[in-house]
Amino acid sequence: MTERPGFGMRQNGSPVDSSQAAATGEPLPPGARVDLAKERSDSQADSVLDALDAELVGLAPVKTRIREIAALLLVDRVRARFGIDSGRPNLHMCFTGSPGTGKTSVAVRLAELLHRLGYIRRGHLVSATRDDLVGQYVGHTAPKTKEVLKRAMGGVLFIDEAYYLYRAENERDYGQEAIEILLQVMENQRDDLVVVLAGYKDRMDSFFTSNPGMSSRIAHHIDFPDYEPDELEAIGRLMMDREGYGLAPETEPVFRDYLTRRRAQPRFANARSVRNAIERARLRHANRLLAAGAEVDREALTTLHPEDFLNSRVFT
Ligand SMILES: Nc1ncnc2c1ncn2[C@@H]1O[C@H](COP(=O)(O)OP(=O)(O)OP(=O)(O)O)[C@@H](O)[C@H]1O
Ligand SMILES: [Mg+2]
Repeated sequence: MTERPGFGMRQNGSPVDSSQAAATGEPLPPGARVDLAKERSDSQADSVLDALDAELVGLAPVKTRIREIAALLLVDRVRARFGIDSGRPNLHMCFTGSPGTGKTSVAVRLAELLHRLGYIRRGHLVSATRDDLVGQYVGHTAPKTKEVLKRAMGGVLFIDEAYYLYRAENERDYGQEAIEILLQVMENQRDDLVVVLAGYKDRMDSFFTSNPGMSSRIAHHIDFPDYEPDELEAIGRLMMDREGYGLAPETEPVFRDYLTRRRAQPRFANARSVRNAIERARLRHANRLLAAGAEVDREALTTLHPEDFLNSRVFT
């Protein structure tokens, strides 16, 4: 289980939430007017949305949905100031897609966004898998699941490969117990916790078929498609750029060729494979420089050459 800190936290851990005071005070009179643009800029949601746009290549439908959710929460806050109580929208979600398509990255930003919009107290993300939730022996599962839930309260609980919680072939599997506890919390404490289930689409679909209770608690199904070659290339450039590397002009076609070949191979994991390719290119680059043993300049230290990719197994 991993935990990432919330972004908008104050030193003492209390969330920045201007809606709280407004919600407990007198409601605005019906004739009052609220400046939505100001509400929006006060929430600082846009900086999260802009970061989502800038730091993640592609994913247009995902970004659109996140923006729509942000708009809903913002309008909800303003409605609350008029004393219009619509109840908290259900925000439990399912992110489907292959490995490395950005599900975790988007979930981290989502947590931050929900926090800024006053939906969750802390805005951190706790990432868990079956092993974190389900015990090996009778009586172990409930405490494990509750411990994870406790850590996730006020934030987002991201359950990777959620379908492993359910084992159809084993009636007495402890996973069922974890699912029951999750269902209860998703219903009763949804004002303090957002659950995101993630995994491959087909397996997630059959998980929902076997667990209609879970399916009915998920408000948003968001699909993360595999990246197109151009997107993989753009992702690679973004990663290199951030890390202070660039491609020599003659490396560009080699890098594209690398991605095309890697994409066709088994265990290709989208952006994660791009990241790994760059890590290995860095390794070869460093060893190439040291082996040459000559003086280096900034250019040499930052430029990846064709052989930094060509020596990969992908080309053999
Ligand atoms: N659209 C994107 N633009 C730039 N970088 C991306 C994009 N999508 C993913 N990445 C990067 O790729 C890596 C893997 O992404 P992430 O962990 O979010 O994927 P995931 O869908 O959660 O994968 P997995 O299912 O394997 O956990 C991270 O380093 C992330 O920053
Ligand atoms: Mg992930």
